[in-house]
Amino acid sequence: MIKGSFRSIAGLVLLILLLSTDFLEVEAQPCKPSGKVRGTKSPSGHCNTEDDVCCIEGRLYTVYKCSPPVSSNTKAVLTINSFQKGGDGDGPSKCDNQYHSDDTPVVALSTGWFNHESRCLKNVTITGNGRSVVAMVVDECDSAMGCDSDHDYLPPCPNNFVVASKAVWKALGVPLSQWGDMDIVWADA
Ligand SMILES: *[C@@H]1O[C@H](CO)[C@@H](O)[C@H](O)[C@H]1NC(C)=O
Repeated sequence: MIKGSFRSIAGLVLLILLLSTDFLEVEAQPCKPSGKVRGTKSPSGHCNTEDDVCCIEGRLYTVYKCSPPVSSNTKAVLTINSFQKGGDGDGPSKCDNQYHSDDTPVVALSTGWFNHESRCLKNVTITGNGRSVVAMVVDECDSAMGCDSDHDYLPPCPNNFVVASKAVWKALGVPLSQWGDMDIVWADA
């Protein structure tokens, strides 16, 4: 009797553990890839700037139409790009068809967070390095496609990127030598 109930309790505990592990995995990966794109040979003159790395011919790159769920402190990776004319970005920003000065705090969001332009010209609060800055969403970092001429033969964006202008990095007080890649949280402002 005691032994039996111990066994069933042990079984129940095991079941709960299994279920919660399952649950945690679902939590950690709430957004599944939508497919893959294959790198093609990029014509010369493409993605050859210092910090750009072309898709590698034949390599598969995972693409996502979704991003992790948004909360009041959504974890993301902050990266850097220029939204100025002649900057790293290819052409004007998608939201307003304009260029934006490196001195203006603007960002591009991964496809899922960009959410069919629903955050266009809205502000987000970015918190990192112990500080916060408000920045305007002006563009998409395409995680649903890549490695084609439309994307200058660059790989698809990861689905958790906030690509920011220099002004954002400056406002967060990050030393210049560390600009480029940082864990942050963001929220709709
Ligand atoms: C976004 O923030 C800027 C700077 O603080 C402000 O001028 C602008 O009105 C804000 N835009 C929206 C849509 O809240």
